[in-house]
Amino acid sequence: MEKSVQNGWPQKSAHREEVAVHVNTTSKNFGDERRRERWLSKAPQAGTQLCALDDIDIPGAKGFTFGDGRDRFDMFVVRTDKDCRAYVNACPHAFTTLETFTDRFLTRNKDQILCTTHGALFNLEDGFCTSGPCAGKSLVPIPIDIRDGEITIAPT
Ligand code: FES
Repeated sequence: MEKSVQNGWPQKSAHREEVAVHVNTTSKNFGDERRRERWLSKAPQAGTQLCALDDIDIPGAKGFTFGDGRDRFDMFVVRTDKDCRAYVNACPHAFTTLETFTDRFLTRNKDQILCTTHGALFNLEDGFCTSGPCAGKSLVPIPIDIRDGEITIAPT
């Protein structure tokens, strides 16, 4: 089947086929591999619906929380004009959630992810920390799929 992609984003077509989203789960920049595995074990099941793609501005981000107490799992999705990525909402410095206000994960000019606890900055495209107390570490990526304009959790 033929894919229809415009400006880096799939367009709806009669085929309505699956579109793979770029998720680099083999990067060496995850930081602690055990921490990554622990986070991913708490992630929602593959196929869990997050939101419509159009619910997130370009650029923009949206947070999601699943469960509570010890089973609570926080994550967020970042959308740019080229791509859509998801990360565990836990800073690799002190493991706090990144945002102070709902869905405010990006810097003022929206070109980096900001941890508001101590000001660490992360690349949108790979979650790598470029500045701050956890420079050189990375946010833990979550695999996602986009199909028919809906964002879902993908198999790990
Ligand atoms: S907890 Fe994020 S920079 Fe310290």
